[in-house]
Amino acid sequence: MPTARPPVVLPPGPRRPPLVQGLQWVYRPVPFIEMCAKRFGDWFTLRFPRGYTFVFTTDPAAIKEIFAGDPEQLHAGKANAILKPILGEHSLLLLDGQDHLRERRMMMPPFHGERMHTYGRVMASIADESIKRWPRGRAFPVQPEMQAITMGVILRTVFGVEEGATLTELGAAINVMLTVGTSGKTINFVGRDGKVPFEALQLALGSFSPWGRISKLIANVDRILLGEIAKRRKQSPEGRDDVLTMLLAAKDEQGRGLTDKELRDEMITLLLAGHETTATALSWLFWRLTKHPEVQEKLRAEVLGACKDGRIEPERLGELKYLDAVIKETLRLNPIIPFVARWIMSPVTIAGRELPAGVLVCPAIYLTHRRPDLWPDPERFDPERFLDKRLTGNEYFPFGGGTRRCIGMAFALFEMKIIAAQALCRLKLLPAPGYKAGLYHRGLSFAPTKGMPLVVEKA
Ligand code: HEM
Repeated sequence: MPTARPPVVLPPGPRRPPLVQGLQWVYRPVPFIEMCAKRFGDWFTLRFPRGYTFVFTTDPAAIKEIFAGDPEQLHAGKANAILKPILGEHSLLLLDGQDHLRERRMMMPPFHGERMHTYGRVMASIADESIKRWPRGRAFPVQPEMQAITMGVILRTVFGVEEGATLTELGAAINVMLTVGTSGKTINFVGRDGKVPFEALQLALGSFSPWGRISKLIANVDRILLGEIAKRRKQSPEGRDDVLTMLLAAKDEQGRGLTDKELRDEMITLLLAGHETTATALSWLFWRLTKHPEVQEKLRAEVLGACKDGRIEPERLGELKYLDAVIKETLRLNPIIPFVARWIMSPVTIAGRELPAGVLVCPAIYLTHRRPDLWPDPERFDPERFLDKRLTGNEYFPFGGGTRRCIGMAFALFEMKIIAAQALCRLKLLPAPGYKAGLYHRGLSFAPTKGMPLVVEKA
């Protein structure tokens, strides 16, 4: 007689009801996961409403296997399904398997590291225009300024939208959409069937309900995006070097290009994934520099060597090794996305541990970056540790890993360097009196509270 396989035992975790665990994750994310890591070790299980089960791991061997795992068995797109109503079904963030690989291959070339110099001048000039306007000598929130810069950069470099009505209209519509989409601390979970239970939002209460408002905004953004795509299909690509121009010309192995709908979904994905994350990372970077004046001084000394008439020279960024280390150390202690997730499609063994289908396995970025065996004295902000370090993708992974690693990584790092260096060419950064930085969930990211106020003075 065949013997039934014993059910798989998941790693231990808190025993509180799923709703309580969900609320702890939303309102006190860091103390909650730090407590779990302390109590349960390298692996622990969190249970959220709707049967949503997250198995977190900080074990580098497991993380290596997850990132190298079979993308047919570990789905990242399904884990992001909550974003479908905004990003659309063709978004790179939501696709899995062959569809994902096809679109990823088509989208990689414009984001290749070598292409960044094409975008450098635009990034530097948008940053400088904004920095010149910042008030001197009194506290102001820097996060909205960073968002305005990174939004401007994305619209020009990715979309290729020039000054004018489309730029202003698109920027404004996306900003409102983001504010509505991220202001509420709602817990929305995908059902175990993989469908998004948006009933709470979709309650058709007209434009007064959050969903009514968001769907109106999406319709507006779509109108602008599809209008721009149609216009650009008719124009010659001659003299243009933005991402959309490259995507309009991209072909897959069968010689097929991207449809209007696919382009729309990818453009909105790049607009949303690419601007707020980078702005938040920059806000944490500036905060770190105000907290560590000795690091700021050392960094300014390096950066000034690459400034001319108060402007950073983007082609010299590669020389700035300390800047690179400061940014890496900031993203170690303040990774913007606290974890990545893979939905297990069929039973799998990871680092000798069996896991069943239907749960999410999650390399825990925030916690792994603080493991004392990997990062001695982990809470100490010490950029020097990155100066000669050979990084492995299972100990340090602020951009995720494997075939899902952030496509905008080179873009984000280049942009952070330009904006930080441009600020230091002109300014000294000081802490805002009385401000104690806190961290909260803004959409999917860990953002600083109160828009990260700081004070700047002429350097
Ligand atoms: C500091 C800034 C950024 C951070 C911390 C960040 C982080 C991440 C992370 C953690 C992932 C998930 C990776 C995984 O599941 O393994 C991701 C995916 C992605 N990011 Fe970023 N990102 C940043 C900036 C950008 C920028 C500037 C763009 C585009 C212009 C971008 C576009 C994307 C896209 C399209 C994906 C999906 C990739 C795929 O599924 O194949 N990101 N990012």
